[in-house]
Amino acid sequence: MYDLKKLSIDEKITLLTGADSWRTESLNSKLRQVFVSDGPSGLRMMGDPSQEYGNTTKTATAMPTLSMIANTWNTDMAFLDGETIADDCVEKGADILLAPGVNIKRTPLNGRNFEYFSEDPFLAGTMAKSFIQGVQSKGVGTSLKHYLANNREYNRCWQTSEIDERTIREIYLKPFEIAISANPYTVMCSYNPINGVYASENKYFLKDVLRDDLGFKGTVISDWGAVYSPYKAHKATTDLQMPHDDNAFNDIKSAYEKGLILQDEIDFCVSNILKLIDRVESEQPKRKISYSVEKRHQNAVDIAKEGIVLLKNDGILPLNKGNIAVSGEMATENVITGGGGSAKVSSAFKQLPLTDLLNKENTNAKFHYVKDGRGINDDFVAWNLKKASMDFYNSDAVILCVTDYEEKEGKDRYSIKLPVLTEELILDAVKYNPNVIVCVYAGSSVDMSSWIDKVRAVVFVGFGGEGCQEALSSVLVGKTCPSGKLSETFPLSIQDTPTKTFRGNGFYETYSEGIFVGYRYYDLYKKEVLFPFGFGLSYASFEYSNVNVKKLSDTDFEVSFDIENTSDIDAKEVSEIYVKDVFSMVSRPEKELKAFSKNLIKARQKKTVKVNLDFSSFAYYNVSLKRWHVENGTFEILIGSSANDIKLKQKIEISLPDDTQQSQKGLE
Ligand code: BGC
Repeated sequence: MYDLKKLSIDEKITLLTGADSWRTESLNSKLRQVFVSDGPSGLRMMGDPSQEYGNTTKTATAMPTLSMIANTWNTDMAFLDGETIADDCVEKGADILLAPGVNIKRTPLNGRNFEYFSEDPFLAGTMAKSFIQGVQSKGVGTSLKHYLANNREYNRCWQTSEIDERTIREIYLKPFEIAISANPYTVMCSYNPINGVYASENKYFLKDVLRDDLGFKGTVISDWGAVYSPYKAHKATTDLQMPHDDNAFNDIKSAYEKGLILQDEIDFCVSNILKLIDRVESEQPKRKISYSVEKRHQNAVDIAKEGIVLLKNDGILPLNKGNIAVSGEMATENVITGGGGSAKVSSAFKQLPLTDLLNKENTNAKFHYVKDGRGINDDFVAWNLKKASMDFYNSDAVILCVTDYEEKEGKDRYSIKLPVLTEELILDAVKYNPNVIVCVYAGSSVDMSSWIDKVRAVVFVGFGGEGCQEALSSVLVGKTCPSGKLSETFPLSIQDTPTKTFRGNGFYETYSEGIFVGYRYYDLYKKEVLFPFGFGLSYASFEYSNVNVKKLSDTDFEVSFDIENTSDIDAKEVSEIYVKDVFSMVSRPEKELKAFSKNLIKARQKKTVKVNLDFSSFAYYNVSLKRWHVENGTFEILIGSSANDIKLKQKIEISLPDDTQQSQKGLE
């Protein structure tokens, strides 16, 4: 155990900022340095630890992005993802992975949505918790980020996120609350101010809420450059400023000498940094590699297989016969496997053309690549286009692999449509061939309005990491039955989303939609969407029946129901359990996701699924009581295969003791 008392005040102040971009101070070799490295789509580690950014990153397994992990709706996959990345960390010497991010996907324009799980706090928090448990099971620490309310990249360092208290608690803090139960080593504070106070200086959210209410026991580190005044940040309990800041020592020392920051306040942060070093050291025995490099790649493939979402299929998929044309840059070795910025992983894996993989699947179909050339500015374009059109015409079906090319840190998307030339490719292909299948590579929702009705199938690949093409090939030919579901709503257009194209006025952005984010918003306004939250097709078919809700205590219930696989293939089905407060003294969403389960059900077999609900499934945050509150009365348990496809419903009554309740005159 490192002893705070053995450090001089100068040593303590020195420890409060990083030694360089990625390591904590050693104080002339007195302390073990903690080496942090980026995630979450795999390990991103600089070749030289003193390097802040640059291209010389060490190679690692590129895993599916968190947006795709969420689309698996499988906590075992999130755990496996965490374990696999941790193996790379152990191999390369990273003590802490700077992941996962649990910011809510409030707008599909956010350039970093691919790094986040969902528009729903329960799904985001639950998947993050398993991811953290996976990473930390290998003695590698995590950094839960970006705390708090960093929901777009535009103006991320300056613009206040202005949010009411109930919305913060129910939507933006909730995923942190759930994930913190996995005891992450660190939490990373975000760049933006929250209600006028920078996250790094926000004592209310860092101390009163994060540590005292949510029970976070670890160390708070700043996002890279998110500290604007070192002494104010430490007073607010940002423990460690990253990366190294040449001015930090003098700023804190002079504030200390003037009594602007007290010894106790410095000690609080220093002791949290020492605790972090202790924890890293004591977990060393767990740091053993379990998966070979090949097995890590296979894990990436297996996870991607579960995260691919089949959005439309009139029966054309799976494809196992005919002469099939494959086009689009995403079908080539240049496939984009993740988003850009600090989450970009440099993978040593060499991608094969998708056609090579498809032709190896041993089906009666023959796949060939068609170069389209659109977007390449040279004389051959027209020639290529003509040739491509003729090829599409002469093929039995056409698979188009496309992306929006837009998703990266530091910049939001301008549009959620595919690039004009890509839409043109799809519309041209349908002119020449009636059997077009579109595979979309993206990290957030895409407006498909101009072409979706004209194509026969749509596969949302997501950003699948280095195994994406193997996974897609297996899904397209039917060796893998698709089982992913959307972790965010796909709206008809950006104008249909709560925030439309509004990005704030530079000073602040008011979260005026309140708790009505994602499906909560579309439910409230009964808005039609392209694909609802939780939606995904299968090659199999399922029937739900026999719901039963058993009361275990005042607010604890066991929900059980049967799912029958009515098809001839074994397949996995995600079932979603929503709760609706039928009558309430406050506004509540039409329904909220409170449990989910993914189950493999053999062909023609039935499975009983059981999930539990507890106090948090029925509670809302009451700003007058300053706590979570459950109102007595009728609730409905809704079991669905998507947010808009509720299969079973059961009413229950909650009747907590009278002294826990406020008067509900008018509701009785
Ligand atoms: C990002 C963080 C990342 C850090 C270190 C920041 O710009 O917001 O997510 O962990 O850089 O690369």
